[in-house]
Amino acid sequence: MIAVIRGTGSYIPPRVVENEELKNYIETSDTWIRERTGIERRHVVTDDTVASMAAKAGRAALENAGIQAESLELIIVSTTSPTQMIPCNACLVQKELGAVNASCFDLNAACSGFVTAYQTACAYIESGLYQKILVIGSEALSCITDWSDRGTCILFGDGAGAVVLAAEKGKKQESVCGADGSMGDALTLYSGYLSNPFGTPVQEEAVADGRKNAFVRMDGQAIFRFAVRKVPQIIEELLQKNNLQKEEIKYYILHQANTRIVEAVAKRTGQPIGKFPMNVQEYGNTSSASVPILLDELCRGGKVRTGDRLVIAGFGGGLTWAASVVTWR
Ligand code: UT7
Repeated sequence: MIAVIRGTGSYIPPRVVENEELKNYIETSDTWIRERTGIERRHVVTDDTVASMAAKAGRAALENAGIQAESLELIIVSTTSPTQMIPCNACLVQKELGAVNASCFDLNAACSGFVTAYQTACAYIESGLYQKILVIGSEALSCITDWSDRGTCILFGDGAGAVVLAAEKGKKQESVCGADGSMGDALTLYSGYLSNPFGTPVQEEAVADGRKNAFVRMDGQAIFRFAVRKVPQIIEELLQKNNLQKEEIKYYILHQANTRIVEAVAKRTGQPIGKFPMNVQEYGNTSSASVPILLDELCRGGKVRTGDRLVIAGFGGGLTWAASVVTWR
């Protein structure tokens, strides 16, 4: 058996922050942000949490798939900005949706997280363990952003996207997934104030460092260079593994980090920019939510038809990367 996408859904919080509004917090301009990132505005949470957005996106995907929550056997939530650690966000979604028969766990692979969760779900279905899985990417990045750091706060936004996967007969498709931990310092977020009463001065220093860095810190240029070099390579590798030509792919759905990254990848891949849909201008960089939000927009806009082949690709903190071929049914 293989996994096919039966339905998609997304949820975007209603509060919009235009580039102009960021001038209240940092020295910047709408022109700089548009020219360097393509971003015009982003949406941010006011009342929502990672779990509430995930549940709303998940419910929309279930409705789109025509599948009852009770028939789900697994829920995976990818997030890098969890509002809470325990219960995991997938358990909170299970409760909200009444998906009483589903196992649950969260997964964190930063901006590669949704595609990694998708690959994990496919492996479960291919192994025969599960038939129906809900995979969600949900992020409240505005809550882990340092609003006085103009190198990061202009980039991020909040939202959630989801897909329902179901088992069907078909030919298995290969994926690509990897990491380079040696470059991890380029994008960090310390989650903890973790210490115990036995700590050494070294540990205390690390804790103090952790407090100071309880926001996303990023070497933007290093990540940019990594993405522009790595993503065309993994697309090449993915297509080779699946015996596919670039022309056979209808859309390349990349993590929405920055329009300049997407444009550079399109150029290096030698495919027309029209095959690389973008919505970063509206939502900013929503980390692991960006791929499923874009997928949902394409699906609901009638842009994908049965038989279409898509590439989905994530890249980012870790450093990590993941790419898969999706054949639309
Ligand atoms: O989601 C996965 C992880 N993240 C990414 O994929 C992000 C990848 N990186 C990027 O998108 C870009 O590196 C950024 C958008 C974050 C930054 O753009 P950049 O073109 O790399 O700018 P920079 O950091 O090299 O800064 C260039 C100049 C600097 O001024 P000087 O030193 O040349 O005088 C910065 O101080 O622009 C300045 N600058 C700003 N000016 C106005 C940096 N941020 C801002 C700002 N507004 N918000």
